[in-house]
Amino acid sequence: MNIIDIIERTKNSQSLSSEQISWLVESYTAGIIPDYQMSAWLMAVCLNGLTEEETSALTLAMRDSGDKLDLSSISRITADKHSTGGVGDKTTLIIGPAAAACGIAVPKMSGRGLGHTGGTIDKLESIPGLRTELPFEEFSEIVNKTGFSVISQSGDLCPADKKMYALRSATAAVDSIPLICASVMSKKLALGADCLLLDVKCGSGAFMKTRQDAYKLAGLMERVGAAAGKKTRAVVTDMSAPLGNAVGNALEVKEAIELLQGKITRGQLYDTCIELTANMLELAGKGSLEECSSMAAEAIASGRALEVLRETIAMQGGDPAVCDDTSLLPQPRFSYTVKAAHDMEITAINAQEIGMVSLLLGAGRLAKDDRIDPSAGIVMDCSVGDKISVDAPLMTLYSSFCSDFSDAAVRALNAIGYRDLGKVNNY
Ligand code: URA
Repeated sequence: MNIIDIIERTKNSQSLSSEQISWLVESYTAGIIPDYQMSAWLMAVCLNGLTEEETSALTLAMRDSGDKLDLSSISRITADKHSTGGVGDKTTLIIGPAAAACGIAVPKMSGRGLGHTGGTIDKLESIPGLRTELPFEEFSEIVNKTGFSVISQSGDLCPADKKMYALRSATAAVDSIPLICASVMSKKLALGADCLLLDVKCGSGAFMKTRQDAYKLAGLMERVGAAAGKKTRAVVTDMSAPLGNAVGNALEVKEAIELLQGKITRGQLYDTCIELTANMLELAGKGSLEECSSMAAEAIASGRALEVLRETIAMQGGDPAVCDDTSLLPQPRFSYTVKAAHDMEITAINAQEIGMVSLLLGAGRLAKDDRIDPSAGIVMDCSVGDKISVDAPLMTLYSSFCSDFSDAAVRALNAIGYRDLGKVNNY
């Protein structure tokens, strides 16, 4: 086989056989095909797409490029969850404990944040003492005991995806539906849970900006999952504004704990968590969607989900007292409140921009090895549709790295779309 022929075929929208795709992935992972030729092929995919058969073949070849986990030592039915990435997305910290409290196991391998979206590992590591790099035996022991654990991606799981994702990030080749599908599904299939729930985010803070693209990706991932023999469901959820009020690692852990403490019982974060937990439970055979919704709500309202989180934090070496007292989480040294300059009605909040401001305050990284500030981020004081009076807070910015908020405040303010309701404060 010949890499130039393969690039040529995709460039001319001619399909590849599964043998050609396996050879391409194996040869690239082994270092036989260089980065520049793989980049050319990935860009051809970005421009021309792949057929569903090619996407399935790519997914399986990437899954088979490294180790696979064996979850058979976990006694309960296992469900994995993946979000395509958003701003303020702390749902794993809520859904995992809630689903575990309803009798299934959620063994999760997560990534760190890169760019404007956050990563569950960074959020969890803001809990004092908590370890996310655990040997597999300890991970499965925790899942067997509490039903929920999250560890960072380790070992040699999907090395093809690691190399290809790095190339895609460096060559503007991330936003391709077949490549996102193969990247996500290969990792999820290698993890080997019994069922898989995909949360496909849609809107300004997500890779998929339109509902049409989000449903296209969701449908493709469900069919690729089914073809690989995995019970897979994809739910499209809104990411046109940040999810919940908090963006930033410790701030998001605090909000997740508050929801599990029963302090947040409505709103988009709560509704999304119930919807996703219910879908996960239904997929795992726990009842109808309606029954599973009630089970999820009860697991939270009764405090049982918070108990799962507490036990998991303790077993991963973290301080479980954060579940009662969130002031034990890292506290920012500096803060700045952005206020309304006139009476206004909020018409939009650009999630991607809020994510970028949070990153610049120290909560995220532009490059893979950047150090992050666990206390940094933003707490929104307004939501879309709110009417805000002059001088009322719109959001508060937090950081321990920098005390000068002037640039961040201007950029954050520009992320808010509003309708002027008249009364102006001429500062
Ligand atoms: N998340 C992934 O894991 N891969 C992608 O390609 C995009 C988002």
